[in-house]
This record gives sequence, structure tokens and C-alpha cells, in this order.
Amino acid sequence: METIVLHSPEAVAEAVAAEWVDLLIKNPEATVCVASGNSPKLACAAFVRQVAERKVDTSRFFFVGLDEWVGVDPDARGSCRWDFSERIFGPLGISSNQYHLFDGRSADLTLECRRMDELIAARGGIDLMIVGIGMNGHIGFNEPGTSFDLLSHVIRLDTTTATVGQQYFDQPVHLEQGITLGPAHVLASRRLLLIAQGAAKAEVIRRATEGTTGPEFPASMVQLHAHAAVIVDAAAGQLIRKQA
Ligand code: F6R
Repeated sequence: METIVLHSPEAVAEAVAAEWVDLLIKNPEATVCVASGNSPKLACAAFVRQVAERKVDTSRFFFVGLDEWVGVDPDARGSCRWDFSERIFGPLGISSNQYHLFDGRSADLTLECRRMDELIAARGGIDLMIVGIGMNGHIGFNEPGTSFDLLSHVIRLDTTTATVGQQYFDQPVHLEQGITLGPAHVLASRRLLLIAQGAAKAEVIRRATEGTTGPEFPASMVQLHAHAAVIVDAAAGQLIRKQA
């Protein structure tokens, strides 16, 4: 794992987008998985811009959604699907055969998990994952206590996640469960970028990068990943021990 502290959220976004673009130039058929939420917002916008500037072919890469709120209308502002559509699929004209997202309203969520796992396996794994970190140290909806051996699964959300999650929606929603790729997917990805911005994330970034590794603090899995980079702005990186 390497830790990269950049001066601003915009610098984080440009660095992440550049890596995503470089990957597609090298491997136009790459499989990419991105979180929704605030952390990757600027990076997605920078990606769309860099794609245009560098004339990158985005017609062949495959996008996998990291997670989804169970029971939430997929077309509602605040759903993970809505984020991906607004940020990536719409602006780049990505067709529906180029992505696979969890259906949080499926009547059979176990099948939904199996489909995702089989699809990722069939594609030979995930080339690049871009994830955020929750205020309880979750990655995706892998809440504290989630076994690092798990693939896709359904999980009861922590109170923190359900409370913080309200910010994404226009009106209060019932958030009780999530469906998510598991730690085993994150750990098996060929490249993992964990991004965070702002002082509110400083302590969780410190714990993720320097704390004890294990399921009690899921984001600590970045330390176990051979090709992970934690890319943060100065505010989120302020508690990281300075390298000698
Ligand atoms: C969202 C996701 C979550 C978020 C995390 C941080 O798809 O997987 O783990 O990345 O809750 O959320 P933000 O970025 O909104 O602070």
C-alpha cells in the first residue's frame, strides 16, 4: 500500500482520473468498479473531461457497481445507480450492456449476489477499484465485523451508515440493508484506489493506513492489498504519520 497526500480535492480527482484513463488506454476492455457517494464525484467529472481531452475509447470497458441500498428506487436521486448514471453513463453515453449494477429491489437478493460474483469471475476479476471510506471505516457496505473472505453479500447497515446515508436523498428514506461487493473482491482487485477528502475523514484515514488490520475496521484491508494506493487531500491526510 502506498499513501499519497495531495494538496486539494481537485488534485486527488485529477490523479485518480488519470490512472483510470491510463488503464483504458492500456486495456480498453478493463473491468472497473467505482463507489458512489461524495468521494468519487470530482474524480468522475475529471475522468469524463480527461476522456474527451485524451480521446479515449470508452466503448469497450465494463463497469461494475460497488453497492446499492436495498429497497431504494434505483431511479431516485441518492441511489447508487443514479450516481453512476449521472456521472458516468450519461455523460459518456455508456450503453447498458457495458455495466452491471446490483438491483437493490430484487425479490431474490441472494441470486443478485451470485450473478454479480459470476459476472466478475467470468470477466477475470476487477482491474481497478475506486472506493471511498465511511465514517465507521466501511468500504462499500462492508460494515465493521464483515469477514474479509466474503464475496457479494447483503448486510444490515450500521446506524452510522443509515444516518449519514440520508444526505444523498431529497427526502428521508428507510435505509436498513445494503447489497455490496465483499472484501474478497476488493482484496482480489488488481489495483485499488481508496480516496478521501476533508478533515472529517482524517481519523478514519489514519486508522485505515496505520491501524490494526482486520474486519473490525474494514478499510484496514488496504494495508493487505499489494497494489493499493490511498489518495487523499491534505485535510484528510493530516493525521497520517509523516514518512521519515
Ligand atoms: C458508496 C460506498 C460507501 C462510500 C462511503 C463514503 O458506494 O461504497 O462505502 O464510499 O460511505 O461516502 P462519501 O464518499 O459520501 O463520504
